[in-house]
Amino acid sequence: MKALVLSGGAGTRLRPITHTSAKQLVPVANKPVLFYGLESIAAAGIRDVGIIVAPDTADEIRAAVGDGTRFGLVVTYIPQHAPLGLAHAVLIAREFLGDDDFVMYLGDNFIVGGITDLVEEFRATRPAASILLTKVPDPRAFGVAELDVDGRVARLEEKPGNPRSDLALVGVYLFTPAVHEAVRSIEPSARGELEITDALQWLIDDRRPVTSTVVSGYWKDTGNVADMLEVNRSVLELLTPRNEGTVDAATEIIGRVRIGGGATVRGSRIVGPVIIGAGTVVENSYIGPSTSIAEDCRVTDSEIEYSIVLSGSSLHGVGRVEASLIGRNVQITPAPPIPAAHRLVLGDHSKVQISA
Ligand code: G1P
Repeated sequence: MKALVLSGGAGTRLRPITHTSAKQLVPVANKPVLFYGLESIAAAGIRDVGIIVAPDTADEIRAAVGDGTRFGLVVTYIPQHAPLGLAHAVLIAREFLGDDDFVMYLGDNFIVGGITDLVEEFRATRPAASILLTKVPDPRAFGVAELDVDGRVARLEEKPGNPRSDLALVGVYLFTPAVHEAVRSIEPSARGELEITDALQWLIDDRRPVTSTVVSGYWKDTGNVADMLEVNRSVLELLTPRNEGTVDAATEIIGRVRIGGGATVRGSRIVGPVIIGAGTVVENSYIGPSTSIAEDCRVTDSEIEYSIVLSGSSLHGVGRVEASLIGRNVQITPAPPIPAAHRLVLGDHSKVQISA
């Protein structure tokens, strides 16, 4: 069994963070989303992984993942010159995939609990395809499945205007080589892509068995920062506390807190679960629950809670920051008292809420 990991795509829903970085590398508890997927694949006993990369972000993905050794994987990179769809990715990976069964994993998806059980079940039963479904409040941003009375997949629709169910397709699919005929047989959709949803429908119409499992504990980048903060919170709940940095006697640490190598915490109060990345300095500050602060940040005379801060950013002398996603190399400081005005330098697609 092999894995095909999709790591292309533009990431428009997570702008402005994705203007400068691949969406699959957005961190959850200081680790790129993509790494959780690769770890789940390795944990399921799969070794050979093909990663589909787009021209814009290929270098960044290669630099982060390398040859896969650190995950116990052997990685082959497969360039996709344009975002022509998930079924197109299967088409261009034909040589890599050979005649093996495979799991296709979308690199921007986060599945709590991994995929080991699903892979084992698939290996034992080998339907033509097996999909994961999850209930979502607004299925219009997803592929949507309709089940028949026996719970079999009857119909699939990509991003329907009027969804017939609340069961969204999760970005993990298991296939036998039967899918290759399907991806060769379908036509591009209205958005100009070869949809994996259409390939699955082709298999269903051809009376091949397509099974489904409903899962909970799922996140994808639907553009909702609130969801991202939630997934960060749920991963931090399981954090193993560890201190590899320096914490002075005037600091109070409560609950699950992980402090990275070379980080320094002075005169502060940290209430976990919190992760603080390597090389970060926290001074005379409060870091509250469900906060991830990446590497090489500086937080001084500030308060922050339930937030994600990416590497190289600083907060200096600011009151409580909450429910925020702060990108790389961002500087947050107070404005001078006169004139009492907000001074902003914001990139394209930024979103700011100011307490008046
Ligand atoms: C893709 C699939 C969709 C699925 C989703 C899960 O959508 O086309 O069926 O529900 O992944 O992440 P996309 O991310 O291309 O919008």
